[in-house]
Amino acid sequence: MTGQNPDKHLPAAVLEVDSLSRSFSVEKSLLHSAVDRLRGIVPQSLQALHEVSFSVARGETLGLLGESGSGKSTLARVLMGIYEPDSGLAKLCGREIFGVSGSERLAVLRDMQMVFQDPFGSLDPRMTVRQIISEPLKIHGLMPRENVDAFLTRALADVGLEAGALGLYPSEFSGGQRQRIGICRALMLNPALLIADEAVSALDVSVQAQILELLIRLRSERNLAMLFISHDVAVVRQISDRIILLYRGNLVEELPADQLLENGCHPYTRHLLAAALFLREGDRLPDASPANVSAKVETGSACCYFQACPKAGKECQQRPQLREIKPGHRVACHFV
Ligand SMILES: Nc1ncnc2c1ncn2[C@@H]1O[C@H](COP(=O)(O)OP(=O)(O)OP(=O)(O)O)[C@@H](O)[C@H]1O
Ligand code: SF4
Ligand SMILES: [Mg+2]
Repeated sequence: MTGQNPDKHLPAAVLEVDSLSRSFSVEKSLLHSAVDRLRGIVPQSLQALHEVSFSVARGETLGLLGESGSGKSTLARVLMGIYEPDSGLAKLCGREIFGVSGSERLAVLRDMQMVFQDPFGSLDPRMTVRQIISEPLKIHGLMPRENVDAFLTRALADVGLEAGALGLYPSEFSGGQRQRIGICRALMLNPALLIADEAVSALDVSVQAQILELLIRLRSERNLAMLFISHDVAVVRQISDRIILLYRGNLVEELPADQLLENGCHPYTRHLLAAALFLREGDRLPDASPANVSAKVETGSACCYFQACPKAGKECQQRPQLREIKPGHRVACHFV
């Protein structure tokens, strides 16, 4: 099994994201907020995404890798319209995603569908599989007039489920089968882009492999663009053509998936790879020891990795730009 796309001549981008930012206000108790106001302290906010830019081409899988809290789901939710962006632009198949409503918004949503992490919570337990997978068709007024069951049966077969599943409820399936139902629902409208947010993280390793294989097959059969989000280095490498790495909402590196291990060079990328590939229980991560962290003073304009970086120097008080060091390989670090 391989995630590498054999088509070398990929057409224009399906998804283009330009300088996308989103912050959340940090919740405080009423008393603390009142004290802060009296002292003239501005309410704090957490920058979940900071000026993130990337694109995904037709038939391509872009892996989005980052630790918990790095902003992966926030990015997916902003793209899906669940959260408003603070600033930035995004286009899907050349159409603006943000600031559109009504039929334009519906058209965007038809072309961009999502598969969620939790195969148990993401399907309504009161609905049969027939209702679940036909719901997107109803919402978009695309129900086939005749032979609805034949149509739905073909859709199920495409994700490896039998026709008998139509009358059953989610509770009657295993986690892997439920994820197949979620994928089927997401593909009913034949979208141009599929966003998979930790779509295999809740599954056993053997079931994970089956779902990854299914996604790779569907992607190549339908020439789908896919944004595959995960904290798991091995899984992202397996399925992706290219990979972007997020650290605290900042895109720190972008490179071809088959170069991650050898050429991934941002200090955070190396830290993540060390954690994923080489450390055994009891080993310490070299990059983020408390001694390193406390010795540094971060300013708002510093590199996002300044506090944890073993290579940080005076220059790192200035935020580094993401710059291309080789075709297809961009890094945000002064010392790479
Ligand atoms: N609705 C919200 N309100 C306040 N803060 C939020 C909200 N959603 C996300 N955040 C914060 O934004 C940051 C990024 O969260 P996000 O869920 O995007 O991370 P993630 O990379 O998907 O993590 P995980 O791997 O755990 O799913 C976190 O610090 C999180 O606490
Ligand atoms: S710019 Fe400085 S702090 Fe940031 S990753 Fe590079 S060396 Fe580390
Ligand atoms: Mg998440």
